[in-house]
Amino acid sequence: MKLIMLGAPGAGKGSQAKVLSEKFSIPHISTGDIFRANIKNGTALGVKAKEYMDKGQLVPDELVCDLVVDRIAQADCKNGFILDGFPRTIPQAEALTKALAEKNLKMDYAIDLEVADEVIVKRMAGRRACLDCGMTYHIENMPPKVEGICDKCGSKLVLREDDKPETVLNRLAIYHEQTAPLIDYYTKEGILVSFDGTKAPAEVLKDILARIGE
Ligand code: AP5
Repeated sequence: MKLIMLGAPGAGKGSQAKVLSEKFSIPHISTGDIFRANIKNGTALGVKAKEYMDKGQLVPDELVCDLVVDRIAQADCKNGFILDGFPRTIPQAEALTKALAEKNLKMDYAIDLEVADEVIVKRMAGRRACLDCGMTYHIENMPPKVEGICDKCGSKLVLREDDKPETVLNRLAIYHEQTAPLIDYYTKEGILVSFDGTKAPAEVLKDILARIGE
């Protein structure tokens, strides 16, 4: 199974991708998590990416495309993978389509989670993230067992720098301008499936599995 998670920042892509990854035993590839790990480790890629991410801007396509194309060529992606946060622009989608076509492959589904902007802004203020293992929580909707501590790895949870309200509004504007056109792109490819992302996380998962097959 080869899946793309589409949707605005905070639509629930990461939350659903983590569960789907376990369900189908395929890797969850989040470009945001890859960049955050690079920032944490102080790599050259991390230094460059941070400049854009902290302002809520997209990291340039040339820093993203090769990274993902190399990642999906690795052995653990043989039976499929879930892309979360990639592609985010038409050039990124074209680079992905081209890389897969060279191997006679195609994505199976682009899963679009629909959530209105005003719901997103509220969600982001309550999100808490683990910068060690990538788990995300919400102080009201999906709280960790112990406040401020990651259930999975025990690290301290933080409010991401780019989840501050003014940066979220900028990310939403960029989403509508540069990423939303992918909905048309994948509709034309015949693989777009859309879901109401405002339902409870378990309901959203149920809807996705009912559509793409369990
Ligand atoms: P990235 O990490 O990909 O951020 P994003 O796409 O903005 O998505 P988020 O992680 O913010 O949200 P999500 O949809 O995964 O929602 P989540 O499940 O956490 O990218 C960060 C930055 O990196 C970008 O801004 C850019 O600069 C750069 N970047 C990354 N990829 C790039 C690329 N390809 N090209 C260029 N630049 C790139 O859920 C959000 C909150 O809501 C959580 O608190 C969660 O608990 C809660 N929640 C989830 N589902 C529900 C629900 N159904 N009901 C209620 N609450 C829910």
